[in-house]
Amino acid sequence: MRIVHSIVELRQQLASAQHPAFVPTMGNLHAGHIALIAQAKPLGDCTVASIFVNRLQFLPHEDFDSYPRTWERDCAQLQAAGCDVLFAPREHDLYPEPQTFKVHADPVLADILEGHFRPGFFTGLSTVVMKLFMAVFAGKAQGTAVFGKKDYQQLMVIRQMVRQFALPIEITSGATCRAADGLALSSRNGYLSETERAEALHLSLALRTLGRDALASANGLAQHLPQLEAQAMQALTARGWKPDYLTVRRRSDLQAPQAGDDLVVLGAARLGDTRLIDNLEV
Ligand code: PAF
Repeated sequence: MRIVHSIVELRQQLASAQHPAFVPTMGNLHAGHIALIAQAKPLGDCTVASIFVNRLQFLPHEDFDSYPRTWERDCAQLQAAGCDVLFAPREHDLYPEPQTFKVHADPVLADILEGHFRPGFFTGLSTVVMKLFMAVFAGKAQGTAVFGKKDYQQLMVIRQMVRQFALPIEITSGATCRAADGLALSSRNGYLSETERAEALHLSLALRTLGRDALASANGLAQHLPQLEAQAMQALTARGWKPDYLTVRRRSDLQAPQAGDDLVVLGAARLGDTRLIDNLEV
């Protein structure tokens, strides 16, 4: 595996690639990331991963400084997974000057849910992903990028960005990897104490219960949903969580569903100091 830091070196490495398959990450890799690499490998002629903790997508009070950085272990895992090129830009490689020119996602999609509770998150995310895409794919007739469904709204924002800017990039989604008890794998799980880790599976359980209740009232869905969502929030609160949202949405655009829509249940909640997110298509 070749490790490169600058965009110039990356483009040199990719000069002969016709169809890169790309997995962007912020490092601290776990089995979920490695599954995305395995998924990407057959989709292109060169498998590229990136590791970059993107300051722009963190709010001032969030965990940018403490976000786990596990460089040696990440490199070993990527090497073992058969990644061809690791792009690990330093701050000045991606942001050589203050990034005042930004990509603003459609507020209808990006100002709800995660965007409501983390204002500016999707602008920071879209901006860095556009820059990473330009670094990896510029000059290529086609490419593929793989994103996990664990960050469901992120995946939808990226799909919309690629579609509306007509980027020649296929966006492929990877299933959420879960621990044996159902907890979605996430770098932030490492923040949990032993007691919190045991409790953490209740987020996925709450989503499952909410999804089941929503399906059971499919005919009167719009009418019953507010109460079902409030019950789900109360149940988690009673266990000591601080939920931001637990909600059932239409899969196609994350707006309030009508009877007959395909549904996704999404949740974000804080357990102690750790904010976890999860979702379930039902
Ligand atoms: O999902 C992530 O790890 C990040 O949001 C991403 C896509 C690498 C952009 O920083």
